[in-house]
Amino acid sequence: MNVNVIFCGLEFPNPTVLASGYLGVTGASLANCTRHDCAGVTSKTLFLEERKGHPNPTVLTFKGGMINAVGLSGEGIKNAGHEFEVYKEQAPNNPMICSIGGKSIDELVECARIAEDYPIDMLELNFSCPNVHDEMGRPFACDPKMTEDGMRAVRKVTKKPISVKLSPNVSNIGLIARHAEAAGADAITAVNTMGPGMLIDIHMRRPILANKVGAWAQWPSNPSR
Ligand SMILES: Cc1cc2nc3c(=O)[nH]c(=O)nc-3n(C[C@H](O)[C@H](O)[C@H](O)COP(=O)(O)O)c2cc1C
Repeated sequence: MNVNVIFCGLEFPNPTVLASGYLGVTGASLANCTRHDCAGVTSKTLFLEERKGHPNPTVLTFKGGMINAVGLSGEGIKNAGHEFEVYKEQAPNNPMICSIGGKSIDELVECARIAEDYPIDMLELNFSCPNVHDEMGRPFACDPKMTEDGMRAVRKVTKKPISVKLSPNVSNIGLIARHAEAAGADAITAVNTMGPGMLIDIHMRRPILANKVGAWAQWPSNPSR
């Protein structure tokens, strides 16, 4: 049975795409996901420069799902070109969606410009990471104007399809999505992790994540897990 999907002008061999940050940060590990039937992949979010992220522990599983406060660690888009080349060599028929972020619109635009030189098929703008408030303030996706301004600025520097990744932690996600669309977004990625949340070690009487708070994803099924 042919389950090909054309999405944003790109051909995907089936309707599944790996979400950002989950199962790989290198080109080789992302290509490995395609050997297990991921039709396309999203890279870990890259900022302009290398970021260390939060100290460990950063990811925990619990009865209700997985909580994380990774803090957007990554090598920086300036240094990531090789990983995209490795990916394309190993998975030429599986679209690569490059996730980028920025503390400011200028940084975001600079990331998009650099990504133009890499073999990527689509951009995802991570406007919604919940674990870096102390450093970056409210995510762009909590504000219709920031979402629109950020999207519009990136639209000027690339013709590639763009998806804006939204936050579930807002009162009217549809409004934010419409502002992204008005600024030229081709798609919406729904959604980033929910939060903040905290797991507490009741014996130690303190939070388990080094960042104290994190955001969570629910298990898709089997709530007793
Ligand atoms: C360990 C971990 C790391 C993540 N890193 C990123 C990231 O770098 N960029 C991003 O946009 N989303 C990141 N996410 C969010 C996921 O891409 C996804 O949006 C989220 O888990 C909700 O989707 P789900 O309910 O299908 O799990 C991360 C999630 C987890 C659990």
